[in-house]
Amino acid sequence: MDSIVVKGGRRLSGTVATSGAKNAALPILFATLLADGEHRLDNVPELRDIDSTEQLLNALGCTTHRSGKQMTVNVSRPDEALAPYDLVRKMRASILCLGPLLSRYGEARVSLPGGCAIGSRPIDLHVDTMQRLGADISIEEGYVVARAERLQGTRILFEKLTVGGTENALMAAVLARGATQIENAAKEPEVVDLVHYLRAMGARIEGEGSSVITVEGVDRLEPARHSIVADRIEAGTLLLAGAITGGAVRVERCEPQHLVALSDKLRECGFPVESGEDWIAVAEVDAWSSTDVTTAPHPGFPTDLQAQFMALMTQAEGTSVITEGIFENRFMHVQELVRLGADISPMALVAVVRGGKGCLSGAEVMATDLRASACLILAGLVAKGTTKVNRIYHLDRGYEQLEKKLAALGADIERVRG
Ligand code: UD1
Repeated sequence: MDSIVVKGGRRLSGTVATSGAKNAALPILFATLLADGEHRLDNVPELRDIDSTEQLLNALGCTTHRSGKQMTVNVSRPDEALAPYDLVRKMRASILCLGPLLSRYGEARVSLPGGCAIGSRPIDLHVDTMQRLGADISIEEGYVVARAERLQGTRILFEKLTVGGTENALMAAVLARGATQIENAAKEPEVVDLVHYLRAMGARIEGEGSSVITVEGVDRLEPARHSIVADRIEAGTLLLAGAITGGAVRVERCEPQHLVALSDKLRECGFPVESGEDWIAVAEVDAWSSTDVTTAPHPGFPTDLQAQFMALMTQAEGTSVITEGIFENRFMHVQELVRLGADISPMALVAVVRGGKGCLSGAEVMATDLRASACLILAGLVAKGTTKVNRIYHLDRGYEQLEKKLAALGADIERVRG
């Protein structure tokens, strides 16, 4: 299994470009199932989760072709609308094929998912949504089995804000009979990007980016072209990599308006942050202060940057209280940061970080999930000596060549094949 080896102590500097967003590309790839013919996507990141999605689409009768960042998906009716366990277990987001398969073919058998081990991550809201749209659902031998002649538009009020649930609701409602109103909808930029794609396919949707989205069902959709939005989590991680080393790093090809919660927090800590239309940058500093962070749905501070921000807070002057507001059990990186010498007390959903420059020293650590991998690499950039991050396959699920991007900014980092 591959590892990443980082030698700490170098101040990063330079310019780096963001890739397309994994979390936008995944639902959009599943949305292709809604229309036969050739779909053309651009700015698709090269990631393990995208490979897993491609395999699932292939199992569902689609032919896919990739050339660099471009991907074509040729959709035709599968023998069976089945998402099997051995493919779904690799990636929890596979549940996103439930809505499109059901609304397109009137039936779907989707294995219960696996994926990141962050909290219990149930799928009850996805299942409820399909039931509200008129589907009969049963759980049989580890599979969600859904049937409906044609889904019927309705009012869906999410009791809890859910990104994937909103996306599945949208992909089911676009071909339903009549109108659907989704209330307490997720406002994440990736949901908005999915809506842009669905609209390009001919869907009638209004209100994306707000908490109420309305969909007027249509009888048929057409394949479309689309370029995937920039990955705000990757952009934020690269910015934090610059910040933790006190370096001057400019992240290009991103959407700074998607990173306001992060840039506000960085400024609060004393980092000079500047941005333009499609770039954001931190300037050199020698010291910064701590701040408290609570993760929340967009436009709040993203849970997917919590671990990386905690790494930054280990180097701050003062104490930081970090509260995880989205997922239970998303502090698995804490024990690994502590192995590197950090002073952190985790208490259920809150972690108290007592920061201080130079407190980290290199060690062998284990990545426990995707964002924890990035957190440990960031910590390694400032730890004395060498940090070896094992189980790096989590990183490859969601970051495109992170070690190469950091090396180009001056980090002493390499992948060790194992
Ligand atoms: C998506 C992102 C993930 C990000 C998360 C929150 C993708 C592929 N992944 O995950 O990177 O961390 O949004 O921004 O886009 N919940 C339920 N029942 C459900 C569904 C969710 O209780 O049926 C709960 C979850 O356990 C969690 C909360 O709702 O506590 C939010 O989860 P959700 O927004 O659905 O996350 P994902 O879509 O899985």
